[in-house]
Amino acid sequence: MEPSEEFLFKHKGFYFVSNIVTPEYIDSLEDFEIRDSDVFVVTYPKSGTVWTQNILSLIYHEGHRDGTENMEIVDRVPWLEYNIRNMDYVRRPSPRLFATHLPYYLVPRDLKNRRTKVIYVARNPKDVAVSYFHYSSLSVLLETMPDFNIFLERFLARKGAGFWLDHITGWSTHRDDFNILFLTYEEMKKDLRGAVLKICKFLGKQLNEKELDTVVEKATFDQMKTDPRANYESKQKANFLEPGKGHFLRKGTVGDWKNTMTVAQSERFDNIFKEKMKDLSSMFNWDTNDDI
Ligand code: A3P
Repeated sequence: MEPSEEFLFKHKGFYFVSNIVTPEYIDSLEDFEIRDSDVFVVTYPKSGTVWTQNILSLIYHEGHRDGTENMEIVDRVPWLEYNIRNMDYVRRPSPRLFATHLPYYLVPRDLKNRRTKVIYVARNPKDVAVSYFHYSSLSVLLETMPDFNIFLERFLARKGAGFWLDHITGWSTHRDDFNILFLTYEEMKKDLRGAVLKICKFLGKQLNEKELDTVVEKATFDQMKTDPRANYESKQKANFLEPGKGHFLRKGTVGDWKNTMTVAQSERFDNIFKEKMKDLSSMFNWDTNDDI
């Protein structure tokens, strides 16, 4: 079953959300002018993007840390390909922070200058699939899937936002083209402070102990779930969420797939992924204690 064009269109091997971007705009990004001081968070959807956007915002903006500035994360760290607020990115002051789901081959050409920093966050694909399934009914931009099985068929058939494996394999095999830090959702869950320190080191940002404590505290799931700047709930319509259908910050756990996938679905998933993921295991320690 093909994704409905009302919601997604395919362009150069990747799927994009129909109502908020055009193929021409995607193509124009190849020439998008990059600054050395820019920072990009790159993810496959549902891998911890808003979490990392929030951490970046907290690291860079004192007014976010101390609560004196009340700006939504999506305005602090906007989407490169989905310019939903119609911002003039060229006029944004440095350092500009961006988020993107683009595959490595569609990002601005100059990102390969190997100076601009890229943070790639990966998540166990089973949890990605389950999170994505729930998000499909929450977002007005996506087609609501009648049941998880149908969603899974699409996910495994390289439909949806593209394909998890292509995305991560592309970025990891081309890592030498970029100045890139790889993190996993699972390691952020296990040791958030350690992950924030890793990010700070990569960015060359030195926070004192108090600032670091604040970043870590405000980046926890419980804090973000109640923070209107981070949870997408203050202006649900503007953020394309259907009120009453659930929360963007849903569970925030590792291994939640076990509550949704049947044994048969999990085995089908393993059969497709396990062999292909062997090459990735040297880079990504999923640390989920079991399975993938
Ligand atoms: P779940 O649906 O499993 O809860 P993205 O921002 O890439 O769309 O990813 C969304 C997923 O990240 C959701 O997963 C969300 O709950 C989780 N998430 C967001 N902030 C988090 C945090 N501070 N800690 C743990 N998980 C977080």
